[in-house]
Amino acid sequence: MSSTEKQDQNSSEVPSIASNAVLVVSEEIPKDAKVVKGYDFNNGVDYNKLFDSYLTTGFQATSLGRAIEIVRAMRKWRLTDEPILETDKEEWKDPTERSKVKCKIFLGYTSNLISSGLRETLRYLVQHKMVDVVVATAGGVEEDFIKCMNNTYMGSFEDRGEELRKRGLNRIGNLIVPNNNYRDFEDWIIPIFDKMLEEQNSEGIKWTPSKLIKRLGKEINDERSVYYWAYKNDIPVYCPAITDGSLGDMLYFHSYKNPGLVLDLVEDIRAINNEAVFAPKTGMIILGGGIIKHHICNANLMRNGADFSVYINTAQEFDGSDAGARPDEAVSWGKIRVNSQSVKASCF
Ligand SMILES: *[C@@H]1O[C@H](CO)[C@@H](O)[C@H](O)[C@H]1NC(C)=O
Repeated sequence: MSSTEKQDQNSSEVPSIASNAVLVVSEEIPKDAKVVKGYDFNNGVDYNKLFDSYLTTGFQATSLGRAIEIVRAMRKWRLTDEPILETDKEEWKDPTERSKVKCKIFLGYTSNLISSGLRETLRYLVQHKMVDVVVATAGGVEEDFIKCMNNTYMGSFEDRGEELRKRGLNRIGNLIVPNNNYRDFEDWIIPIFDKMLEEQNSEGIKWTPSKLIKRLGKEINDERSVYYWAYKNDIPVYCPAITDGSLGDMLYFHSYKNPGLVLDLVEDIRAINNEAVFAPKTGMIILGGGIIKHHICNANLMRNGADFSVYINTAQEFDGSDAGARPDEAVSWGKIRVNSQSVKASCF
């Protein structure tokens, strides 16, 4: 017979089943357990300490804190951190040369980040050579050039589509891009396509999406542009879905006005995969999901996985999309190395 059965509802004692359930005795907490503790602004704003405090703030702050740690680790890594292997390239066996070999950092981001003020942060990273390979969407490429033509404005998520359409204004979340900007983009880009077609036909130049982006970066000649700096710093920008946006609209129109321009995807897939294959160490910083996320991960599959991986996005995994997949799913595919440092921070 259990103790509750002995007690009835009129008993003056707390039912023992309830008190036992609530007052379970804790086991000893491990000595190295971290205490939940956030930043104290009474100590002034010290960004390094603020970022460190994320680790013990909990929830996604902790994931973001971990992401910051992993990005620091990929930036700090040098080949001298690892023992010399038989298979290492001859020049990498020299200690001085070895100390200069860094982790190759792949940065991917979606179009909305270029539409937003994060464009200035992305430009900073490319301007100062803090990343080695970029993967973007078509919108992520053209929105940067379009911002060189004219402004994107703050709007509201509540601005109505019907009203905006009548006024020739396009909405990206709570941002507004006047349709005239796209017309200016057309006036700028079509003559460049004409020149590229001429070079293709007269000089035999084989264009690819990455070579097109490099050319546009050169032509824009504007220090506010991410792709101007990618061109200057010889940082390749891959965009396998280059036709999925205004760039595609322009290529479509151009195919009628002056047909024949060819962009070769095969040359680019070989180039991005080899960026991964021949790198001694790789890191991935992937902001958002979809093609940019998978394209970087898939290139890293070619080398049996990335060594450092940071995902930042708001997608969820329950629908089985790659966009929402956590790093551990990529480990199963060989896109992220077993026992490597990785994190997903669900934020933006
Ligand atoms: C930018 O757009 C505004 C408003 O549509 C227009 O008045 C202005 O002339 C444009 N500026 C340039 C440089 O095209």
